[in-house]
Order: sequence, then C-alpha cells, then structure tokens
Amino acid sequence: MQVFKTVKEIQIYFINSKPKSIGFVPTMGALHVGHISLINVSKKQNNITVCSIFVNPKQFNNPEDLIKYPRNIDADLEKLANANCDVVFVPSVEEMYPNKIEKEYNFGILSTVMEGEHRPGHFNGVAIVIERLFDIIKPNKAYFGEKDFQQLSVIKELVKQLKLPIKIIGCPIIREDNGLAMSSRNERLTKIEHNAASEINKALKYVSQNKNNYSVLELKKYFNNYLSKNKLLTTEYFEIADGNSLTPINHWNETEYLIAFTAVMVGGVRLIDNMTIIN
Ligand code: PAF
Repeated sequence: MQVFKTVKEIQIYFINSKPKSIGFVPTMGALHVGHISLINVSKKQNNITVCSIFVNPKQFNNPEDLIKYPRNIDADLEKLANANCDVVFVPSVEEMYPNKIEKEYNFGILSTVMEGEHRPGHFNGVAIVIERLFDIIKPNKAYFGEKDFQQLSVIKELVKQLKLPIKIIGCPIIREDNGLAMSSRNERLTKIEHNAASEINKALKYVSQNKNNYSVLELKKYFNNYLSKNKLLTTEYFEIADGNSLTPINHWNETEYLIAFTAVMVGGVRLIDNMTIIN
C-alpha cells in the first residue's frame, strides 16, 4: 500500500502507474467497517482503489465538533492495509488549501433542508473538499455511504453541475449489532450512550414499517415521543422526505420514494441516520 502526503507525489504515482480505472473512497479517518465496505466495493470495480483521509475544517460549522472529531491515523492505515487498499492520500490542510477558496455553490433544496438547515455552510464545505479531491485524484468512480444520504445527493448534484466524468456510487448503511448506524462519531459514545443510541434504529424501523397504519404526522409524533423517553437522546430533527428531491412531505400521496431522516444528539455526540420507508 502506497501512502502519499502531497499532491505532487500522488500525481507522479498516477503518471507512472497509468491505472486503467481509479476507484476513490474519500474519508475523514477514524475508519470503521462501513468505510472498509466502500473499499471492498471499489476494489471489485476498479484497477486501483484510493482512499483519502482528511478531516476537512471547511465542513465543520461547529469548531468544537472539529476539535473533538476522532483521529487515529495509525489504526486507519492498518485497517486499509488489511483491506488491501492500493493508495492512501493523507494531505495536510496547507496541501489541500494552498490558496483561499471562497466558492459558493447552489444545490437548491438538497443543501438547505435537514442537515443543511441545522449545519449552515456544511455542504458548501463538503463540496469544496470533494471538488478539490476529485481534481487531484481524477477517479472514474467514487464511493459514499448512504448513512450520509443527503451528502450523497449533494455530491451527485455537484458532479452533475461540474459535468465531471465520475460515477458516484452510494453504498448501504452498515449497522452495529444493536442496529446503530456505523459512524466515526460512535467512538465518542460512552457504553450507556451507545446503548441509548440503538433506540434511533428501533424508532426508524417502526416508522419505516408503519406507513400503511398511520399518517405522516402521527409517525413524526411517534418518533419524537419515543426518543424523548430516553434522557440521553435529543432529536434535532425528524423528517420524512422524497428520496430524490429531499423535500420533506406531510402526506403520503406527495411522492412514492420516501426516506425517513433524523439527527439525534446522544449526550454530546450528534448522530444522523435514515431509513427507506417500506410500502
Ligand atoms: O463523509 C465524510 O466522511 C466527509 O464528509 C467526506 C465525504 C470525506 C468529505 O470530507
């Protein structure tokens, strides 16, 4: 496995190795089984797989969240080597952003609802780093987890707007045994919080399986009431939205492709999750 810290190094590697196809898995490190599942899919579909590890300051609207974001580069490199990842790109902030970037994107409603509303500037920061990484790596395919479904929608829109020849591939959420969606942030949960966080999955499951028994409003109430019973959990938002446009709905007949989305504070850790609603 090759590890590069600079743009120059990785680009020279690509010039010399001339890979037929590059699969790319961008990450912020603190890798877990969910990330490795993306590496595995990429390895099946491409000549070489590149993983980047970069905690992107531009996408953190909360400075404390950036400071507390888990970092463990040695363990990450070991996991990537075990997964037979070909190349790892670990740039510094200076390497990624040598010049001031103030670009403002417009993704419409995709970036203004839910995460966009609660984390102002977040998706603009994600778009900045992804545009830069795509420009450096020039992948044929890039892989993202569906846990960050809204991010996946924004990145698909980014690629469309920039007319980039890159296929964006969403991969299924990987869950822990108790149903909690895998996330780097789970590392920050205490054992009790980790247990409490499994309630998110239970409530989402209930919502996803009860479309035919209740109205949208009733299920929204159910979700909020269910989680509020646990003192460690505070729901930031819960929405049922169209899976393509991400427009939140109030009535079932508004669209057919429906996904339930939530962000929940578990102690001091903010977790997001989503689930497709079964018809
Ligand atoms: O999902 C993440 O880990 C990050 O948002 C990403 C896509 C690597 C961009 O920094």
